[in-house]
Amino acid sequence: MWRCCPRMLMSKLCMLLVLLVLQSREIQGQQPYVNNHQLDCYNEAYDNLTRGFNCNVVHSSCQSYLTFRSNPLYNSAVQIGYLLGAKATQIASINNLTSDVATIPTDTVLVVPVNCSCSSLYYQYNVTYRLKEKLETYFIVANNTFQGLSTCQAMMSQNKVGDKNLSVGLDLLVPLRCACPTSNQIASGIKYLLTYMVTWGDSFSYIADLFGVDQQTILDANQLSQDQNIYPFTTILVPLNTTPTKIEHSPPSPPPAPAPQTPPASSPDESNSSKKWVYVGVGIGAGLLLLVALSGLLFCFHRRSKTKSKPVPVFPPKNFSESAAYSALPDNSKSFPSSVSVSSQGFRDAVESLTVYKFQDLQLATENFSEHNKIQGSVYRGSIKGDDAAVKVMKGDVSSEINLLKKINHSNIIRLSGFCLHEGNTYLVYEYADNGAVNDWLHSNKIQTSDTLSWKQRVQIAYDVANALNYLHRYTNPPYIHKNLKTSNILLDANFRAKVANFGLARSVDGHDQGGLQLTRHVVGTYGYMAPEYIENGVITPKLDVFAFGVVILELLSGREAASGDQSSGVELLYSSINRVLEGDNVREKLRGFIDPSLKNAYPLDLAFSIAQLAKICVARDLNARPSMSDVFITLSKIVSSLSDWDPSDELDNSRSLGSSR
Ligand SMILES: *[C@@H]1O[C@H](CO)[C@@H](O)[C@H](O)[C@H]1NC(C)=O
Ligand SMILES: *[C@@H]1O[C@H](CO)[C@@H](O)[C@H](O)[C@H]1NC(C)=O
Ligand SMILES: *[C@@H]1O[C@H](CO)[C@@H](O)[C@H](O)[C@H]1NC(C)=O
Ligand SMILES: *[C@@H]1O[C@H](CO)[C@@H](O)[C@H](O)[C@H]1NC(C)=O
Ligand SMILES: *[C@@H]1O[C@H](CO)[C@@H](O)[C@H](O)[C@H]1NC(C)=O
Ligand SMILES: *[C@@H]1O[C@H](CO)[C@@H](O)[C@H](O)[C@H]1NC(C)=O
Repeated sequence: MWRCCPRMLMSKLCMLLVLLVLQSREIQGQQPYVNNHQLDCYNEAYDNLTRGFNCNVVHSSCQSYLTFRSNPLYNSAVQIGYLLGAKATQIASINNLTSDVATIPTDTVLVVPVNCSCSSLYYQYNVTYRLKEKLETYFIVANNTFQGLSTCQAMMSQNKVGDKNLSVGLDLLVPLRCACPTSNQIASGIKYLLTYMVTWGDSFSYIADLFGVDQQTILDANQLSQDQNIYPFTTILVPLNTTPTKIEHSPPSPPPAPAPQTPPASSPDESNSSKKWVYVGVGIGAGLLLLVALSGLLFCFHRRSKTKSKPVPVFPPKNFSESAAYSALPDNSKSFPSSVSVSSQGFRDAVESLTVYKFQDLQLATENFSEHNKIQGSVYRGSIKGDDAAVKVMKGDVSSEINLLKKINHSNIIRLSGFCLHEGNTYLVYEYADNGAVNDWLHSNKIQTSDTLSWKQRVQIAYDVANALNYLHRYTNPPYIHKNLKTSNILLDANFRAKVANFGLARSVDGHDQGGLQLTRHVVGTYGYMAPEYIENGVITPKLDVFAFGVVILELLSGREAASGDQSSGVELLYSSINRVLEGDNVREKLRGFIDPSLKNAYPLDLAFSIAQLAKICVARDLNARPSMSDVFITLSKIVSSLSDWDPSDELDNSRSLGSSR
């Protein structure tokens, strides 16, 4: 906050002084601090502070660095790199990690390299983020998922969709805050600016120590003075003379209040608790703003005489519990408190329940379930209020599927929008997947042979499915096993992103049942995908899905069916073929022979080998030898991120030259 002049002296002279101060700072060109204005998403008065650091004339782009704190969702270089659009290997080497998939302890401050560049007025580094949860708003994505590395204002100014219209699966541009050194900074030997994300308990001296820089250079770089407050989840710039290395930090003095310790927004854990912390978050936001406003006023009218020497720590959170906004929070009420309008980031309803459709509406939508609208089996395409939907007609009790899907909101799991009960049938209404089921693309001649899934699409599908299963196994409450994963239950949207469907056989795993082990005598599933322990002994564990997932990868790799042949010629199971491919001599040749010829060699053989090996351990006969879905997901994240610099045309050249040299 700028020094305000006493009321009496609010003369032109004083204004001029303020302007002069501003001006001289402008000339220095260092960046102003956002000063908690990022909380106020709909206030345009501070756009210059909130939308990003201003471009200067010296550099239109540069190498820069960000800090990110590891958390249970982003706890390896691969995952953090994926979120922040950075190279996992670089993150691992800068931060001295043992590998890019190694688990990083929660709350470790990591240095992440990014290329910062000017986009019109502001410096930024663009990343794309796909919305995963109903609760996510611009504010939550910027503050919680990206830990304040972006702001709701910057995001809203660069994405077309309004805050109220966000929906799961939508891709948003997230401009991360970064900056390049000014000429003054360059003159004083500064090479890089690191965007540091402030957290509870930080002070200027603490941050200066972390990076071994002089406190004053940090103050200057952010146009701050000793006696100003800095706030958690805002960014400040740290000027560096050398490339940063691993941050050795002892956690800053313990955070005084437990209240704001809440999981990040994207944490898909129990939705009940996430509701509560959103309220808490808003309370804090409101409280903060109130306090900022109050302290601003006090500051203006009773001018200071504060000692300059003492560093002011980050706003202590204990103040909030005393603030009116906080204590006024409802405990369990489901409706959003109307009184909390500050930083109201347009929270969409957390308890959105399913629509109950009228049968007539569904008849209308599907042209009376006409043959023409039939997708396959008992699934019809319909158009409900202009949106495409898939309507599935089912007999009997489908409450378990409804109960499961209504709780789930994940971009890689088909969304159930509502249902209808009519004459003993249940009609389930799902989101429509434009590109149909994966098996049609892989095995059927329904789709023209020239349209095959590309290598990148196949890897992406594997990643998406792993993401969905990992979510089901780990983040739903209780955890679920799909139990019927197969390529006909994996649907593709318009962008060929996968959505797992058909939860008719899914069942929950109760934690207290000896490590999730359950037994059944009623073995149902699809031949070719069912794990041996399930067929033989009816053992149900999450490893069933891992096995089926292995078979799905093999189908994606080879284009072959999970089970082929018939009774007379003998049934060939795809999962039993992979060991032959990967063992013995000439593995490269055998693998090339195994991989779908319609890919026409446009794939990196080394990655194909990694994926085949992953598939092989997924279909291991011994369920304990199979990896968990979260291990699979991490491995695939790594493969997907390494694909980003892969160009299929290289591979063709490569394979041609290899071929001719032999
Ligand atoms: C923001 O900065 C731009 C360029 O520096 C300037 O033209 C504009 O007037 C500023 N807006 C506000 C509200 O200060
Ligand atoms: C990096 O890690 C290795 C072993 O894990 C250790 O020997 C080395 O001292 C570490 N370097 C730094 C700069 O922390
Ligand atoms: C940043 O740009 C440099 C060259 O301009 C490039 O070598 C580097 O890979 C880029 N880094 C990222 C993370 O894109
Ligand atoms: C980042 O996105 C903005 C669109 O808002 C665009 O103008 C800019 O060119 C992008 N920057 C880079 C480096 O792609
Ligand atoms: C949000 O969606 C509604 C209805 O689909 C539309 O009328 C409105 O213009 C949208 N608003 C924004 C900001 O996109
Ligand atoms: C911002 O995110 C952090 C977690 O990263 C959370 O603790 C805090 O409450 C959030 N702030 C608001 C105002 O919701």
